[in-house]
Amino acid sequence: MDKIIIVGNQPLKGSVAISGAKNAVLPIMTAALLADGVSHIHKVPDLRDTRTMVRLLEMVGAKTTYKNGTLSIDARGVDTPVAPYELVKTMRASFYVLGPLLSRLGVAKVSLPGGCAWGPRPVDFHLKGFEKLGAEITLESGYIQAKSKRLKGNNIRFDFPSVGATGNILMAAVTAKGTTVIENAAREPEIVQLARYLNKMGANISGIETDVLTIEGVEGLSPADITVIPDRIEAGTFLMAGAALGEVTLTDVEPSHLDIVLDKLDEAGATVSVGQSTITIKHGDVIKPVDMTTGVYPGFPTDLQAQWISLMTIADGSTVVTDTVYKDRFSHIPELTRLGANLQLENNTVFVRGQKFLIGAPVMSTDIRASASLVIGGLIAKGTTEIGRIYHLDRGYERLEEKFKKLGAVITRESE
Ligand code: EPU
Repeated sequence: MDKIIIVGNQPLKGSVAISGAKNAVLPIMTAALLADGVSHIHKVPDLRDTRTMVRLLEMVGAKTTYKNGTLSIDARGVDTPVAPYELVKTMRASFYVLGPLLSRLGVAKVSLPGGCAWGPRPVDFHLKGFEKLGAEITLESGYIQAKSKRLKGNNIRFDFPSVGATGNILMAAVTAKGTTVIENAAREPEIVQLARYLNKMGANISGIETDVLTIEGVEGLSPADITVIPDRIEAGTFLMAGAALGEVTLTDVEPSHLDIVLDKLDEAGATVSVGQSTITIKHGDVIKPVDMTTGVYPGFPTDLQAQWISLMTIADGSTVVTDTVYKDRFSHIPELTRLGANLQLENNTVFVRGQKFLIGAPVMSTDIRASASLVIGGLIAKGTTEIGRIYHLDRGYERLEEKFKKLGAVITRESE
């Protein structure tokens, strides 16, 4: 198992190119299953999760090639509507095949994802949505089976604007008969790009970027090409590190997707300058303590909560960080505490008391974003930090240690 070793407390300086967004590309890859032809997706990051999704697409009968960041998906042979437990348990986003397979083949059998490192993460909104579209849903031996000749449009209102449920229902509703209205839909940039991609394939979705999506069902979709949006969470991770340790310029980034994050960094005393597709961050003399509560887009992303806490561990005062999207996504707290951070967790709130410095220690990755927060913690800490189980990190970050090395970090990967 690989580990990352960091000799911390070194200044960061330079520029880093941001990769395509993991959470945008995964549903787009499954959307390609809707068309009886070959689609090309550009700027696909080489991640453990995109590789897992490629395996899943091939299992259902698609053929794929990946070259120079372009993934070509030939969905002509799609004929096996099954997503097995072995894959779904390693990546919840596998559940995104349900909508497209149901639409294309009238049946889909997808393993229930089960729990994950930070709690139950149910799929009830997805299933209620499919039922509303007329699918017959059954659970057998841990698998969800969904069946329907042709789905029928309906009005669906989510109790919470779930990213995954919005994407999955969109992909099923595009070919349903009649009109579907999704209320309280997610508005995350990744969902916006999915909806635009579906329209490019011939779907008729309106209300994109709002929380009410109206879908006029069409008979079928055609293949289409797309370039994946920049990963705002990868960008945010580098911004936090830059705010703690130096001057970093991000290129190939979409600043408008990071408005609230940039505001918070500015409040924390960093100097932020924004170009068309670049952001430069320079750390201030002190890191000011800034409270933060996560929210759905355009709120502060839960996927940057852990990294924000890492930055606040060395703020000049105390902060309160609350996650309203997930109530128990805090596996990084005991690990950051091992680096000397002063953190107290109560329900879904972390009380952070800023320290003058952190001190390196062996720590353990537990999920993608917790791992990223440990990398930032290790970069901040004096001495050596060893981060174990970094396959979690590799699920969502493309060559993270190489990118940090280019900025001057003393960071290496070791295979055991
Ligand atoms: N929820 C339900 N029922 C459902 C679906 C969601 O109760 O049927 C709840 C969840 O338990 C959670 C909240 O609704 O409390 C939001 O979950 P959501 O469905 O929006 O999350 P997701 O689609 O499973 C995606 C990202 C996550 C990101 C969240 C929130 C992908 C592949 N994953 O997950 O990304 O945290 O949206 O923005 O897009 C990551 O990249 O590290 C990651 C976990």
